[in-house]
Amino acid sequence: MTDAIRFLMCPPDHYDVDYVINPWMEGNIHKSSYDRAVEQWQKLHHTIKDHAIVDLVQPEKGWPDMVFTANAGLVLDKTVVISRFYHKERQGEEPYFKAWFESQGFTVHELPKDLPFEGAGDALLDREGRYLWAGYGFRSELDSHSLLAEWLNIEVLSLRLMDDRFYHLDTCFCPLTGGYLLYYPPAFDSYSNRLIELRVPPEKRIAIDEPDAVNFACNAVNINQTVIMNKISDNLKSRLSEAGFNVVETPLTEFLKAGGAAKCLTLRVTEPIIEDRHAATQLESRTVCLQGHLLDAGLINRALDLVVEGGGSFQVQNFNLGEQRQSTSSAQIKISAPSHEVMEEIMSQLIDIGAFSLQEDVQDAKLETVHQHGVSPDDFYVTTIYPTEVRIAGEWVRVQNQRMDGAIAVTEGPSGPIARCKLLRDLEVGEKVVVDVMGIRTIRKAESREQRNNQEFGFMSAGVSSERRVELIVEQVAWEMRQIRDRGGKVVVTAGPVVIHTGGSQHLSRLIRQGYVQALLGGNAIAVHDIEQSMMGTSLGVDMKQGVAVKGGHRHHLKVINTIRRCGSIASAVQQGVITSGIMYECVRNDVPFSLAGSIRDDGPLPDTQMDLIQAQQHYNQLLQDTDMILMLSTMLHSIGVGNMTPSGVKMVCVDINPAVVTKLSDRGSVESVGVVTDVGLFLSLLVKQLDRLTSRYDAKTA
Ligand code: ARG
Repeated sequence: MTDAIRFLMCPPDHYDVDYVINPWMEGNIHKSSYDRAVEQWQKLHHTIKDHAIVDLVQPEKGWPDMVFTANAGLVLDKTVVISRFYHKERQGEEPYFKAWFESQGFTVHELPKDLPFEGAGDALLDREGRYLWAGYGFRSELDSHSLLAEWLNIEVLSLRLMDDRFYHLDTCFCPLTGGYLLYYPPAFDSYSNRLIELRVPPEKRIAIDEPDAVNFACNAVNINQTVIMNKISDNLKSRLSEAGFNVVETPLTEFLKAGGAAKCLTLRVTEPIIEDRHAATQLESRTVCLQGHLLDAGLINRALDLVVEGGGSFQVQNFNLGEQRQSTSSAQIKISAPSHEVMEEIMSQLIDIGAFSLQEDVQDAKLETVHQHGVSPDDFYVTTIYPTEVRIAGEWVRVQNQRMDGAIAVTEGPSGPIARCKLLRDLEVGEKVVVDVMGIRTIRKAESREQRNNQEFGFMSAGVSSERRVELIVEQVAWEMRQIRDRGGKVVVTAGPVVIHTGGSQHLSRLIRQGYVQALLGGNAIAVHDIEQSMMGTSLGVDMKQGVAVKGGHRHHLKVINTIRRCGSIASAVQQGVITSGIMYECVRNDVPFSLAGSIRDDGPLPDTQMDLIQAQQHYNQLLQDTDMILMLSTMLHSIGVGNMTPSGVKMVCVDINPAVVTKLSDRGSVESVGVVTDVGLFLSLLVKQLDRLTSRYDAKTA
């Protein structure tokens, strides 16, 4: 019944590339040929007229993109949702399209002013009329999808566009007769691709490659078994004909310059509908509050970026700007997400940066029971380093043993519920675990701008050389280490063998001797090479005084290991006078506890090395209790492990010659961590010097 099908087109009388609102238009201003555009448009017009009736809307001067009638609105039966253009360059088209639909007797729906939606460019019916695929990310707002569902009484499936070359859904997605789908998967995020794969069986999916995609192959007009489009590859042509389609190519290069092709230039105004359909969408919305130095500490940007990057959308409903330097701001933000799954992902990250629910929306945390030892119910909330509270029976309960990457286990104590961070492996059958993202909040101290400036930006500021930056950090670290020692606090050092290879051993030894270090965490290697240096003067076979490799030196460390194994432990080697200097020696002599965690590559190992990693983690954790500061010296894995066990509020100083390691470790989103890219031996020598300078009046003799 071809003759029942109608399309709307707009002649290109005023078409031109006058401005840039998509990447295709860049460099093409006034570069399209009027004559060629008219000729190409007419060819398309004729081709479509062979298969359907074409109505025309009067072109209007000053609105060059009006030729792209796909963006007039979205039609279903006798109802139309008129577009709300994102860019002001096209907003003037709205009244003309609206007038046309009214003249044709359509029921017209209009979206709120600030809710962009660009019509059939961003919303495509499954060709059986069962549901509507709707795009968002560039031109159309996610929140418009729930109104589409309601007004058109149809199920809406939201797809997120990721590549700005494919800014409208119809540039990369084309449902075809018989349930087929022609599309370009990389234009979508992974959640959307999964949704597509759930709805369209593999034998019906015609995924195309980039060369066809950039020729607008998906921007096709499908009428029954015919698909009309700009040029496509032979390969795609034969795939389409195998699926039973008859491909008609018609050149549309002049319109490609504005970012459109066949489908964009047309709007189907007779869309098939099925009777038993119902409004549905997976869309979810929530309102959250944020408080703190939202602008000057950058919190609001971080929150909004998080929402958008996570695949959601936001509306700032309220923003109270704190006017004084010390005053905080607050904001209320409505978050939308295409599904509960995406919402949970976004919400858990917002909770991590301190967002909380409106008073009236607060619910109790959702708890689920552990059924298998060491295995959590799915969907558990993953903890962070920040102080956290969960709401149980209407009361906020502070989570104990705060650490990263745990689950929150809730048990009934004598005086009410107890919530604790637990590692998955420690979960016990019958315990309850917090799942989903309800009733959870993290307490974030309002980071003042001064704090931020001092910790990071001050040092990073232009004009400070990297040498000077290292000195500045050393000065600050030395100052704090002295304070901590004087008040009986705790500094933990985690160190790798590089400390020895770079000549840092004597300095670290001295820090231990002088009482600046309260625990040492490392692996087999730091101890082996420290003892090798103390017993044989080499580190991994290199003479530490001359800096040259010693003949046969590569065997030294094995001999050392053997000797210590004979002694039974590092401590007894010290007692027997086998080890007389170095880091391990000072630990033993000064009663500084140490923990050596083994690994697959360890030689020996030393009798003290804990090869059971769960035990090693527990020992580390025990030594880390009540720490004030952690010095991480050139050991990535041990430092990451330590970082995961440490709640916020503990100062971490990470030193490594490799900037990537420093970034990885100091990037905890916490102001308490400082990264230093430098040679660790050098860092330690500067640190010792600075501590001497700071303490010389008091205990010059220990130097
Ligand atoms: N220049 C127009 C714009 O950027 C092109 C519109 C193409 N239309 C479409 N349905 N993809 O809005």
